Amino acid sequence: MTNEGTNLDPWYDHYAQRTAGLAASEVRALFAVASRPEVVSLAGGMPFVSALPRELVAAAMERALALHGPVALQYGSGQGSPRIREQILEVMALEGISASADDVVVTTGSQHALELLAKLFLDPGDVVLAEGPSYVTALVVFRSFQAEVVHIAMDDHGMVPESLRDAIVRVRAAGGRIKLLYTVPTFHNPAGVTLSWQRRMEILEIARAHDILVIEDNPYGLLYFDAPPPHAMRSVEREGVVYLGTFSKTLAPGMRVGWALAPHAVREKLVLANEAAVLSPSSFSQTVVSEYLASADWRGQIATFRDVYRERRDAMLAALAEHLPGLRWTVPNGWFYVWLSLPPNLDSKAMLPRAVKELVAYTPGTAFYADGDGRTAMRLSFCYPTPDYIREGIRRLATVINGELELLNEFSQTAPLRSVRAERGVVSPPPNLG
Ligand SMILES: Cc1ncc(COP(=O)(O)O)c(C=O)c1O
Repeated sequence: MTNEGTNLDPWYDHYAQRTAGLAASEVRALFAVASRPEVVSLAGGMPFVSALPRELVAAAMERALALHGPVALQYGSGQGSPRIREQILEVMALEGISASADDVVVTTGSQHALELLAKLFLDPGDVVLAEGPSYVTALVVFRSFQAEVVHIAMDDHGMVPESLRDAIVRVRAAGGRIKLLYTVPTFHNPAGVTLSWQRRMEILEIARAHDILVIEDNPYGLLYFDAPPPHAMRSVEREGVVYLGTFSKTLAPGMRVGWALAPHAVREKLVLANEAAVLSPSSFSQTVVSEYLASADWRGQIATFRDVYRERRDAMLAALAEHLPGLRWTVPNGWFYVWLSLPPNLDSKAMLPRAVKELVAYTPGTAFYADGDGRTAMRLSFCYPTPDYIREGIRRLATVINGELELLNEFSQTAPLRSVRAERGVVSPPPNLG
């Protein structure tokens, strides 16, 4: 019997029902494997913080203590410091957003903003519409409030408006209460695609017409490679969008400083929920980030990150073209992720143990769906390994995929794949990697 179901956990039958939705994501389960030095991990989403000069952060910390010690070391406002909220307006202006600092709420990373919004809006059984695939830890949050996630189809231009309309009709016809539309419009995690401007307008129109609040999650917008992406949806829609931003990808995730830009009424509730959850977001981190923005060339640092990630993207795309020419993948114009589509009979989840044996790790597509979909795809991230390792990782991955395709070919001639696998000693996945 596992821990949850047995007397191993004396509190087993005391937990709230919502904990039933709390489970370690597949991405989390991969951490142990991905951190083995001999494994080339194309699985994680960790920014390459080595490209951020430590002395910039050290100088900001020193100034934070020297100039603002009493504030930095004290509790602060549940909405975040007025200074950083003003500075956040400058960052958002680069995405075409003009707003008031009054409507900005600083949170402990944008992840916490997402969790607070779920707490404010979701009752058990409520429906959240989200792209399929979607950001894995958003799915964990929505599940932890016992909400149902309904996926909306995507293509190379992002969420498909027609699919959104259909889903709304379908869910409403079945009596569902749609509370939120969650989207990562720019350099989507995990698909890597970007929603076109025209579709942004169309989706806003649909949400407005059906009275659905949009959560626009935009951690990567400034990390583009070639041309800047379209402006944020919040740049044209003040009342119907809650915009989420973060310093995790443009500075460092360790700061845990993110924010929400929300319509006035929602903003008030968000501040109360933030206070209830953390009293106030870290004053120390906020002050350090404020000093960094005031003293360092933060736009230049973002350009440095772009160069690092662009080179890695190019290495991955070239290696895919060289080793897996027959497959299809997305071509991201920013951030970290490539979505690789597999032939219909391959199963990215079942294949993972073999990949790990070949010393390469990726994230199976299933991690990004609430409905078990995603077996014929995988997410590849190029943020952490160097270009050489990326090339080696793709070469190893190709060995695995081509091996499976060979088995398939044999299967089509002889016996079912499973028995061919068994015969070849290819075992099914161990529990914690499943
Ligand atoms: C789409 C998306 N949203 C939100 C987050 C959370 O970021 P943070 O809490 O570091 O701001 C991440 C982190 O990877 C992400 O990929």
